[in-house]
Amino acid sequence: MVSSKPYQYTKGWVEFYKLRFKVTPDTLIPRPETELLVDEVLQFISQPQSRNCNSSKKSNNKLSSNKQLSNNKVNNNKAKNLSPIIILDIGTGSGNIAISLAKNLSHPYDNRLDNELDIELDSEPNNQPNNKSEPKGSVSQNQRLPDVKIIASDISKKALKIAKQNAKLHKVEDKIEFVQSNLLSNLDLSDLNYTLIIVTNLPYIPTGRIPYLDPSVKDFEPHIALDGGKDGFDLYRKLFSQIKEKSWQTKLIIGEIDYTHGELAINESQNYFPDFQIETKNDLTHKQRILLIKRGL
Ligand SMILES: C[S@@+](CC[C@H](N)C(=O)[O-])C[C@H]1O[C@@H](n2cnc3c(N)ncnc32)[C@H](O)[C@@H]1O
Repeated sequence: MVSSKPYQYTKGWVEFYKLRFKVTPDTLIPRPETELLVDEVLQFISQPQSRNCNSSKKSNNKLSSNKQLSNNKVNNNKAKNLSPIIILDIGTGSGNIAISLAKNLSHPYDNRLDNELDIELDSEPNNQPNNKSEPKGSVSQNQRLPDVKIIASDISKKALKIAKQNAKLHKVEDKIEFVQSNLLSNLDLSDLNYTLIIVTNLPYIPTGRIPYLDPSVKDFEPHIALDGGKDGFDLYRKLFSQIKEKSWQTKLIIGEIDYTHGELAINESQNYFPDFQIETKNDLTHKQRILLIKRGL
């Protein structure tokens, strides 16, 4: 009998945003359309008006979930009248979104494929050309921002373990804080003058559709990474409700959605965030795939 085990689990890695990520059956296999989330975050950060500092706000700052952003960074930002950026990647899985962001925000044009990076994946030779063109999200070199803090969280301890390994392999482990958390429950960002971006690819497949998925997906990928509840939007609703409860300065929420959820996602977002600008964007196959919820500037 032919096994439908995804070849990425057999190989042990997958390419995402021109980087190579270790994957195991504890992590979802990153999909190409998810690269659009990274593009959107990079594009948002590249706009200076997206991070104006509100100087009237106090910044005797209590920071981040477990650690504190260095005072140096905060002071630097004050001098430039720019608030630091915090990016929260909720449901990080293999860490592909957070790590791609960390690489592109700290090492411009250094998105080399891993055969040139000294990483320890048990990999096949990679014959793909080394593409050093500017990454798609395009934060240009002189806009490169050093004062970005990335926090990546997941409910799954096993996925976080792989994400940490990937961060180490790509030498960005000091740029990302990993936190085990059910959505936002273990995260605390109170009282800091920052610009917060929440990026997430939460599970969005309706529970009833899971038995009908391709065997390579339903029999091998972790159901905790697939199952989005009754209509597939449960986790997004919970996340939105938690965001509303926090008094965080959320500037942007970017989520990947099921292509059938466009209208539902817009309606739900409007209920939770009536004062935000809300839109969806299509993936390369013209399906509604990205939900953008932006605070007015
Ligand atoms: C669709 S996968 C996305 C993985 C990765 N970010 C990507 O884009 O390829 C969803 C991830 O959300 C995590 N997850 C599921 N429920 C969660 C919850 N309540 N809180 C935090 N993470 C959750 C899963 O463990 C899984 O890693």
